Amino acid sequence: MSYQSIKQLLKNAPGVDSPVGTTVTVKGWVRTKRESKNAVFIALNDGSTINNIQVVAEAGQLPEETLKLITTGSCLSVTGQLVESQGAGQAVEVKISDVHIYGTADPEKYPLQPKRHSLEFLREIAHLRPRTNTFSAILRIRHALAFAVHKYFNDNGFFYLNTPIITASDAEGAGEMFRVTTLDATKPPLTDEGKVDYSQDFFGRETNLTVSGQLEGELGAMALGKIYTFGPTFRAENSNTTRHLAEFWMIEPEMAFYELEDNMNLAEDFVKTVIRYALQHCADDLAFLDGRLKEEEKTKKKEEQSELGLLEKLQFVISNEFVRLTYTEAVEILVNSKPAKKGQFQYEVSWGVDLQSEHERYLVEKHFKKPVILTNYPREIKAFYMKQDDEPATNSRGEVFGPTVRAMDVLFPGIGEIIGGSQREDSFDKLTARMLEVGIEPEALWWYLDTRRFGSAPHAGFGLGFERLVLFVTGMGNIRDVIPFPRAPKTAEF
Ligand code: 4AD
Ligand code: MG
Repeated sequence: MSYQSIKQLLKNAPGVDSPVGTTVTVKGWVRTKRESKNAVFIALNDGSTINNIQVVAEAGQLPEETLKLITTGSCLSVTGQLVESQGAGQAVEVKISDVHIYGTADPEKYPLQPKRHSLEFLREIAHLRPRTNTFSAILRIRHALAFAVHKYFNDNGFFYLNTPIITASDAEGAGEMFRVTTLDATKPPLTDEGKVDYSQDFFGRETNLTVSGQLEGELGAMALGKIYTFGPTFRAENSNTTRHLAEFWMIEPEMAFYELEDNMNLAEDFVKTVIRYALQHCADDLAFLDGRLKEEEKTKKKEEQSELGLLEKLQFVISNEFVRLTYTEAVEILVNSKPAKKGQFQYEVSWGVDLQSEHERYLVEKHFKKPVILTNYPREIKAFYMKQDDEPATNSRGEVFGPTVRAMDVLFPGIGEIIGGSQREDSFDKLTARMLEVGIEPEALWWYLDTRRFGSAPHAGFGLGFERLVLFVTGMGNIRDVIPFPRAPKTAEF
């Protein structure tokens, strides 16, 4: 089988090394068919690029029956001469000498029309969604970002560690897990106390889908130095928002000998590098999404329109330093902000509360107008494994707050939290004391605590929600539109 991808062919604009004049074969799906007095023009797309190749037949060249079957969505193999295009919009086109129809698409039933469909509508048609310009662009960008993630870590001496998907521990201590079991749901075996007897379950204990690979990742870092995970992650939180999925992909680097500052430096360099990679390698797709977003912005009220286009926003993020400040400083800004004083925040803000997305977005979008890294959060609102600060926090008025932990959250415009991480508590005594305080049985995590028993060391890491990154880079509004098969409450048909 010899055929060239449309991406490859379109690169061959007329020039010295151009195969213009040679016979080529292209295969793909029909986007549009247009008939004029002298010719038939078919726009073919094979998914290798957002751009279509135009294939042309002279009027009367193809039998009527064949022509009738070439409709939007049908799949063709076309052989013909690659020629310089007469029309505007493309450098080269294919003059059809032979066409084979792989699969027809009955126009009466084919749900995609050459017009714009709503994203909600497309979400319901599994096989056609990736054939749209918008979604195929997103999928190509998603691929490029995933590749850039692996490249970044490989270039920087990290090892890719595969942590388990089925676990017996709740890494975040939040309890929002999906159970994994082979017990009969209608009549599970019971213990004497009348509870489900998981000792009879497949793994001989209660198991769940992982909410994070961090705990296992820490074991890797305490042996290999620098590791990262990149795998599916599951959260059974019932949040029907545009930022949450029940199944998402998380990237979790973990580094021995890194402290909070090193962790922040890595997070900032990492996200900037992968965004730069997408800008360099996905120019056509990003230009398309940039145009799409501009159209969408026009339909909004003036005050709700964003100041920067997609490409400008990405350029802005990679060329400006992220603002770094403590949670205590952020709360002071929020408490003194206009929306707080006018009672415009839905949730009140004061030292100790978990910041809501409206607060995070105020800091990033209104106050600093830049990505922000918030650090040193109150201990009570963060996970048990974070390193405790020695000193309490003080604000500008000399008020003292605490205790705090060496946490960091990276906040992005339009997204809110994109990264969460921390330096880890490396003292065995402090860590076990904290576990007992929050009701985690140290015995249950004996294997994790062993890293603090034997050769403990300062270390740190973070988790980047991959879909939130793709959401940011593509400028889409809903996280369900940046993953091929979204999993969310009541959504798992395909
Ligand atoms: O802040 P989180 O919960 O942190 C952890 O899980 C740590 N173990 C990470 C670490 O230190 N190794 O989650 C990390 C990131 C969030 O910042 C967010 O981007 C993403 O994961 N995330 C989600 N993305 C989509 N849907 C959800 N339900 C998400 N929950 C978290
Ligand atoms: Mg978090």
